[in-house]
Amino acid sequence: MTAILAKPAVPASVAPHDDDMVICVRGLRNQFGEQVVHEHLDLDVRRGEILGVVGGSGTGKSVLLRSIIGLQTPSAGEVTVFGEQMLGREETEARNVRRRWGVLFQNGALFSTLTVAENVQVPLREYYRRLDATLLDEIAGYKIAMSGLGPEAGPKYPSELSGGMRKRAALARALSLDPELLFLDEPTAGLDPIGAAAFDSLIKSLKDILGLTVFLITHDLDTLYAICDRVAVIADRKVVAVGTIPELLALDQPWIQEYFNGPRGRTAAKGAETLHEEAEERASRAAPPAVQADARG
Ligand SMILES: Nc1ncnc2c1ncn2[C@@H]1O[C@H](COP(=O)(O)OP(=O)(O)OP(=O)(O)O)[C@@H](O)[C@H]1O
Ligand SMILES: [Mg+2]
Repeated sequence: MTAILAKPAVPASVAPHDDDMVICVRGLRNQFGEQVVHEHLDLDVRRGEILGVVGGSGTGKSVLLRSIIGLQTPSAGEVTVFGEQMLGREETEARNVRRRWGVLFQNGALFSTLTVAENVQVPLREYYRRLDATLLDEIAGYKIAMSGLGPEAGPKYPSELSGGMRKRAALARALSLDPELLFLDEPTAGLDPIGAAAFDSLIKSLKDILGLTVFLITHDLDTLYAICDRVAVIADRKVVAVGTIPELLALDQPWIQEYFNGPRGRTAAKGAETLHEEAEERASRAAPPAVQADARG
């Protein structure tokens, strides 16, 4: 697999249809007044991967997310999710695709007048109108537990939670409809390093257990190294490169070099290397030495 560097936009009409492609964006353009945020932006997200999306502040990562989920109407381009065209689609049809994803917004976006459990129940009430109160409570409790919160969090209001708990509550709501695809916008921003690492492992476990595909916007280099299968880099209004971190590091692209090879990038790489060595050492200690196996045989 090779990283792609600044390839020209592919017209949507020739975009490949592939069952393994969960999200396919072609020739996206977003403009606010005079400001062009995206132009000729292409991106593919493959089934079962965690795709990290990085780029400087204001490069349009959140606008890209909003364009994919239909909260922002682009001025040009095509967006396909699960093989379904999303732009200009009938509301009822779009709803059927929307129920297959969950979103954790950059600011959490919990309803402040609802408790955590009630927040988690909002999408359930929207899509399953006939669920009774007991079942709604049960499902909410289950989602709250999945997001790593204790049952005492359910009756609390967002203002009664810490920042880290709010992120987990927002994750519980994003998981409420058993999504196949999860959008996360800066999920570890504002968390302490231990809380951020715990959140990373939670996302990784959920992805492994539930087979999720994850679109993950982040500035957190540790998160990129710890859980992302590939990383897409946004600069100059488009995706300038996408690949694994070693593939990106091999590219002669100034922002990528500065980002990954700057002091923070090097520290994150070192941390990832140490964790990898520790895991290998634990695995080798756990495995019975070959000589013992021979002696037993
Ligand atoms: N609704 C809007 N109206 C006008 N301009 C907008 C709107 N939404 C976003 N923008 C502009 O689009 C640009 C990209 O914004 P966006 O929120 O996508 O950045 P970002 O890459 O997510 O940044 P950050 O890393 O700080 O979250 C910014 O200049 C922003 O001001
Ligand atoms: Mg943003």
